[in-house]
Amino acid sequence: MDATHPDASLAPDPVQARQQADIDWNELGFSYIRTDLRYLAHWRGGEWSGGTLTADNVLHIAEGSTALHYGQQCFEGLKAYRSADGSINLFRPDQNAARMARSCARLLMPEVPEEMFVEACRQVVAANERFVPPHGTGGALYLRPFVIGVGDNIGVRTAPEFIFSVFCVPVGPYFKGGLTPHNFVTSQYDRAAPNGTGAAKVGGNYAASLLPGAQAKAAQESGRHFADVIYLDPTTHTKIEEVGAANFFAITRDGRRFVTPKSPSILESITKYSLLHLAEHRLGLEVEEGDVYIGDLGQFGEAGACGTAAVITPIGGIQHGDDFHVFYSETEVGPVTRRLYDELVGIQFGERPAPDGWIV
Ligand code: COI
Repeated sequence: MDATHPDASLAPDPVQARQQADIDWNELGFSYIRTDLRYLAHWRGGEWSGGTLTADNVLHIAEGSTALHYGQQCFEGLKAYRSADGSINLFRPDQNAARMARSCARLLMPEVPEEMFVEACRQVVAANERFVPPHGTGGALYLRPFVIGVGDNIGVRTAPEFIFSVFCVPVGPYFKGGLTPHNFVTSQYDRAAPNGTGAAKVGGNYAASLLPGAQAKAAQESGRHFADVIYLDPTTHTKIEEVGAANFFAITRDGRRFVTPKSPSILESITKYSLLHLAEHRLGLEVEEGDVYIGDLGQFGEAGACGTAAVITPIGGIQHGDDFHVFYSETEVGPVTRRLYDELVGIQFGERPAPDGWIV
């Protein structure tokens, strides 16, 4: 793939650009690495301008921008994966486009049409191809599309202008160690209100998660450390909603049923919906989206966190008050979780057949 650049002075040296980035691919974590080019489009006067690629990774925006004061912004996360033959797969970008459109609608921002969203992602991957980790390292190129309200403003109202941008970062596992179990702990804090913005991918939900997340990581119970928070439903605090910045799933003790919470305050994970499909159609499991009570974990033999960044992270155990519930093991991944992981990751890296439309 070859990206055309509107401003040659901002384009990276073409010889340099073709060389693979000088990165230790096997040591990649989930940290910012500046890549060559990002996509930038403006919404002014009621329409999106034709987007461009730029080398500048700093945005210059008005001091009154609604994104800065009133949290009028949303984002997405998706990945590009290198297959064994060198080709690059985007996983279900249409689903990210649709979710971003829902987030924009919730925050009174203009939607980015699916075609423009997917084309921006394609251009960013093409322009940063040297940052797509080699096949076999387990890494991927994480794309971060976002929309922000900008322009001169002071009142609590929707912005006069917007920016849509997509940048990318090569990443490895979000939770250290990849497919190894991590423990989690419940919190008294909520990440979203019952009829708030929990189902939209907006920064405010993540801002609300910073303090409980830091507390969870600093906590210790009987010598155990925790990777993040289990969020309970904001109305009754009896049902599991999310795992840090990821969704939750569990497998019943008989290994036959895949269960995942359903609630209007959960962010609908594309990975979660992909797993629901794979669990049913590839693993032959019964699947259910419904209530998962924190007092009822004994019925589950395995559990995991899932999301674009988290992929599938097995949950070793959950601390809730004085109780610590172990699912399969604190050190080993369970058999159903492993099969789901192999199926999902195999599709993403082009090693297993993908359902129609999942790979672009
Ligand atoms: C993702 O999985 O893409 C997420 O949104 C998690 C991210 C906030 C780290």
